[in-house]
Order: sequence, then C-alpha cells, then structure tokens
Amino acid sequence: MLSCSKTAIRLSRQSALAIKPRQFTPTLSQLLLMRAASTKSAAMLKDQGLLRQQALINGKWVDAADGSTFQINNPATGEELGSAPEMGLVETKEAIAAASEAFKTWSKTTAKERHDLLKKLYDAMVANMEDLALIITLENGKSKADAKGEGVYAASFIEWFAEEATRTYGDTIPSPAQGIRNVTIKQPIGVCSILTPWNFPSAMITRKVGPALAAGCTVVIKPPAETPFSSLAFAELAQRVGFPAGVINVVTTHKNIKEIGKEMCENKSVKKVSFTGSTGIAKLLASQASSTLKKMSIEAGGNAPFIVFDDADLDKAIEGAIIAKFRNSGQTCICSNRIYVQSGVYDEFAARLAERVDKFKVGNGLDEGTTHGPLIHSAAVDKVERHVKDAVERGASVLVGGKRLEGNFFAPTVLSDVPSDAQLTVEETFGPVAGLIKFETEDEVIKLANNTPYGLAGYVYSNDIGRSWRVSEGLEVGMVGANTGSLSTAYIPFGGVKESGYGREGGREGIAEYLTTKLISFGGL
Ligand code: SIN
Repeated sequence: MLSCSKTAIRLSRQSALAIKPRQFTPTLSQLLLMRAASTKSAAMLKDQGLLRQQALINGKWVDAADGSTFQINNPATGEELGSAPEMGLVETKEAIAAASEAFKTWSKTTAKERHDLLKKLYDAMVANMEDLALIITLENGKSKADAKGEGVYAASFIEWFAEEATRTYGDTIPSPAQGIRNVTIKQPIGVCSILTPWNFPSAMITRKVGPALAAGCTVVIKPPAETPFSSLAFAELAQRVGFPAGVINVVTTHKNIKEIGKEMCENKSVKKVSFTGSTGIAKLLASQASSTLKKMSIEAGGNAPFIVFDDADLDKAIEGAIIAKFRNSGQTCICSNRIYVQSGVYDEFAARLAERVDKFKVGNGLDEGTTHGPLIHSAAVDKVERHVKDAVERGASVLVGGKRLEGNFFAPTVLSDVPSDAQLTVEETFGPVAGLIKFETEDEVIKLANNTPYGLAGYVYSNDIGRSWRVSEGLEVGMVGANTGSLSTAYIPFGGVKESGYGREGGREGIAEYLTTKLISFGGL
C-alpha cells in the first residue's frame, strides 16, 4: 500500500506547495520485472482467450494493415499488459462497410431474436465476470471491488436492453380527417459509431452497444487507447454467443485517433454517433457529425455540485460524498467536483470526511484491501496536483492528502476553505480531491452550483423535503441525487444539459437514441 497516512493531515500551506512532482520512470531492472509480471497478470485470467490483442472487423480478428501495434500498460505498475493493432482510415472504412452490410440483415431480425441473443451475451458476461473484472483492473487500475462493480454494471445494460428490445412500441394517432389512420413504427437508425472513454472501459461500451443492438443497429466501436482490452473481451463474448459477422466491429488505435474519429463522424454510411468523453472533443465530433446531420448523443464533462445543508443527516452525507467524490479515484463524470457545506455543519463535516478519507488504502487495484487505485496516467496526476496547488495558493487548507505519491498515484485529498473561484471549482478535476466550500443560504448555493457551463449531475443532502425538492428543481443538471451519492444503474436516463451534452443513456429513453420514428398514414379508408 502507498502511504496516505495521518502525517499528511493538516499539512501546512507551505509544505503542500513544496511537494515535488515525481514521474514514474522505471529503471531497466524494474522494466525486466514488469515484463515477467506481464505474463503473470495475463496468466491470472481463467480464460486466456478473453485477452484479445487484435481488432474485430466483419467477424474476423485482424491486425492493422501495416502490422503496427501500440502497447497497453497497467497504470498501477507500468507493467506492459499486451498490445492492440494501430489501425487507420483504411481499416475504419472497412469496419463501417462491414457494419453497413450486416445492417441489411440484422435490422430485419425480430425483437425477440435480438432479445434472445442479448440475453445469451448477458449470461456469458456473468459467467466470465471474474475475468472481465480482472481485465478492467489491469488496464484501468481501479480496485478489484470497483472493477467487479463495473463488470456487473456493464452486464446490466445488456440485460436491460435485451428486455427493451421487445418494447419499442409505436403509436396510433387520431386523425382530424375522415378516412385516414395514422400509425408510427420504430425502426433502427442504422450503423452507429461508438466512441468511449477509459474510466469505465466496459460499462461505457455496453451502455451504448446494448441499446444499439437491441434496436437492430450495427456498430463500429473505437475504444480508448488506454483500455481497449475490455471492449475486445466484450466483442469476443459476443462472437462466442453467435452475433453475426459485421454486427459488432472494434477498431483500435492510439496515434490515429483524430483521423479515425473524423471518419466515424463523417462517413455517410454512419447514421448515429454516441460519444462519452471531454466537452472539447465532444464539440469537435459534433461539428464533424453535423456535416451529414447525423443523430448524436453526447455525455461530456461534468462539474457536479454536492450540497450539504445544516439539517442533513451527516452520516449519510459523508457516505454519499465518499461515493460521489472518490468512486474510481475521482475519475467519473458524475463525481462531485465542488462540495458546498452550510456553515452550521461545515467544521464537523470537514473533520469527519477527512477522517474517513484517511482510512482509504491506496495501491495496486489487484492487492487485497486496496480501496483506491491509481489515476490513468501521469498527465492526470499533473492536473490534480495543479488544482490542489492552485486552491492552496488561494487560501485553502489541506486536511488530508494533498500530495503526489509514486507513479500514477495521488493521495486522496480533502481541502477546506476552498474559495469559490479556485481552479477546481471551474474545471473538472477528475481525481481524488474533495474541495469544501462554505455557504450560508439556499439561494446563494443554487447560484454558486449553477455558475458553470456544465450540467451533468448534482447532489443535495437535506432532511427538509421541500428544500430538497426546490434545490433539485433549481439545479441546472440532467441528474440529481437527493440524499444519495449514487445514481448509476441501467434503469435510469443518464445524461446532462448545458455543455455536458445531450441525449440519454439507459432507462426507457436509452433505446430511443438508436431508433427513428416513422409515420405511416393510411388514407382512402
Ligand atoms: C462516466 O463517468 O461517464 C459514467 C459514470 C457512470 O455511469 O456512473
């Protein structure tokens, strides 16, 4: 375990600023050890066949046309886990063409046939859950418990949308004219480009691909360069249970991401793009997709406010803050980024939160007892460090953590007295830093909470039902947790407003993103 011990509590402002960044630069002997460990990690899988190191196009596992590859490393240890094909434009066009061809027959299958195949895929995910979770931990770094949680979450989208496949109802609409009957039917939109992030390597695939397949669409997936193995394992299971060639295609890349992303958004055969990632990239992709007016859904950056009123149940508020802030080491779009605490309970909340955070066990996600793993790479650690430094320079105090650890690790941190203009209130930190801001009134905190271009999630803790309701309605976000820090299930419409994107994933709305509504007006009756 890495130390995030009490010694770090109440670190003085000077010492927090004096901490030097430490890059993870392994020595030759460390590198050799890592290679040995690489075989060891892969060997831990019960089913070695799930660690696919090729891409999937038209039902065939393939290398890049020029044979080039890129490496995937465990962010906790630097260990090389394996490689994936470095694909480009040619392979992307092939994948889209395969998906287009497959759409002709897949779109004609019955909802029941798609339901049955998705149920088989769900069963295969459940049967292989230990391996799927291990792959998540190896490539993303999250703890075993978090990885298992993600694996179950990922499978639940396949189960949910298997059922939703059979419920894509249309309407009958009364006509104002005699002799006319209007009905609507739902039809699959076509080939879908699926672009996903590394923070949930498995669940962000299934949240998009589940409804696409259920609706009768075919997909081309571009997983993130950091974590392609989860999507390849998912595709392997889909092949095993019998998804036809071309229905699911996976194109991997590291350095050609720009040209592949552009093709996936501009290619005329693609009818829908679904993206989860940063707001900056979302804007670029949306402008590319607009060239052919493709339907798009976007889940982009967040800057979630977490509001605790004097009348809140503090035990629940602290547990909620632990989940909403520190899940996946803070690398979650719905992570609370700004924690507003009313003045009457501020000191108690701050002390108790710091005490809980100090008990975290930071380390390699594979180690027994690890609660929080590393960040994805050193650039992520740099950003977190920058936010802490900025807050401390503006007068915040470090209650616990506040420092960079070895490699890609940052000590889980609680900062008090963060001014409301600190960098971490403006920009998503995407790391394990809870910045506490004191407030006095309901109106004041709603204004502060809404003072951001983002609007994904928000949280409010109060035992006054009227206040919870007013604040929930007043927050400019797509999702509110009222007395809960946990929102994520397959059953709810997940998504944001403002610059956090548009469209909803999961829930009843999730499948609508992959369907078009066709009116058929019968005349002359
Ligand atoms: C995300 O971080 O984008 C997804 C988080 C979740 O589904 O809970």
